[in-house]
Amino acid sequence: MCDHDPFPHFSGVAIVLSCTEISPGVFDLQIARAGHSKGDTVIPNPVAGQFFMLKAIPSGVLLGRPISVYRYTNDVISFLILQKGRGTEELCALRAGDKVHLVGPIGNTFPLPGSDLVVSHLSSMLCPSLAHPRIALVGGGIGVAPVAGFAFELRPQSFDFYAAFRNGVYGLAGLEERASNLVVITESGEEGVKGMLPDAFSPQDYDLVYACGPTPMLRYIQKVCANTTLAFISLEERMACGAGACLGCTIPTIHGNRRCCVDGPVFAAHEVLFDE
Ligand SMILES: Cc1cc2nc3c(=O)[nH]c(=O)nc-3n(C[C@H](O)[C@H](O)[C@H](O)COP(=O)(O)OP(=O)(O)OC[C@H]3O[C@@H](n4cnc5c(N)ncnc54)[C@H](O)[C@@H]3O)c2cc1C
Ligand code: FES
Repeated sequence: MCDHDPFPHFSGVAIVLSCTEISPGVFDLQIARAGHSKGDTVIPNPVAGQFFMLKAIPSGVLLGRPISVYRYTNDVISFLILQKGRGTEELCALRAGDKVHLVGPIGNTFPLPGSDLVVSHLSSMLCPSLAHPRIALVGGGIGVAPVAGFAFELRPQSFDFYAAFRNGVYGLAGLEERASNLVVITESGEEGVKGMLPDAFSPQDYDLVYACGPTPMLRYIQKVCANTTLAFISLEERMACGAGACLGCTIPTIHGNRRCCVDGPVFAAHEVLFDE
């Protein structure tokens, strides 16, 4: 999918700068990229779409939890975390000065619109606007994090952004100015369009779609984009090692089995074989 090495390059301890609840049950965790002792390795540059395995210190869980990179600067990496079970509860309870164990960055990335991969797919689909494909970014719930990060790697105003939520609206800082259109969809109607993604999103308006969110939403993207629109989806399979070794995150694709952690998490939608 990309020429970045998908295997983790950093495994160590980092210091929490802040952890703020930005919506009920959703936290923005900011971590210092410099090592906490003199001479420690700096956490390498991630690319949008990649993730880290994170574990609070101390922790009652055995394994780190995969969390996508939301934003990063030279000094700080930030993650948006939805509290689900023990692992994410511990991460969301971290405070400035606490320590966290990090492994990463891991996985592939969203391929850029001008990349050979995208251009060759689009030309085989006879896309009429190869130089300026019509692009949609789609985030569902906490899946908004990696696509919101990717939005800052694209040319400003070159894409529309759809963000669909069940509860709360979060992770959209800076996108109003960056996207041509920012379309918010909420099931309750508390903000934006009332309903779900299909109530606001028309795949025929786009040549290229990048999406992350719950599996039913990704299945929908796969179905409505089939044959007409090139779509890349970032999967959120359960993971154990996060290093390509345990095969616990294996998914079936048209090319055979693939490990979501190091062969993904981003896949061309038409290549993924979802369970019937
Ligand atoms: C590549 C990748 C990137 C991710 N990025 C983010 C992110 O940026 N922010 C974020 O908040 N979460 C993200 N997740 C999901 C996150 O890893 C899980 O919510 C977390 O591992 C749950 O751990 P836990 O100990 O809190 O809950 P557990 O006790 O392990 O599980 C609690 C509940 O959550 C369900 N669950 C566990 N893992 C997942 C999963 N991967 N997908 C859906 N449901 C799950 C379980 O079935 C259970 O019902 C990502 C997952 C992957 C694979
Ligand atoms: S989580 Fe172990 S191979 Fe992917």
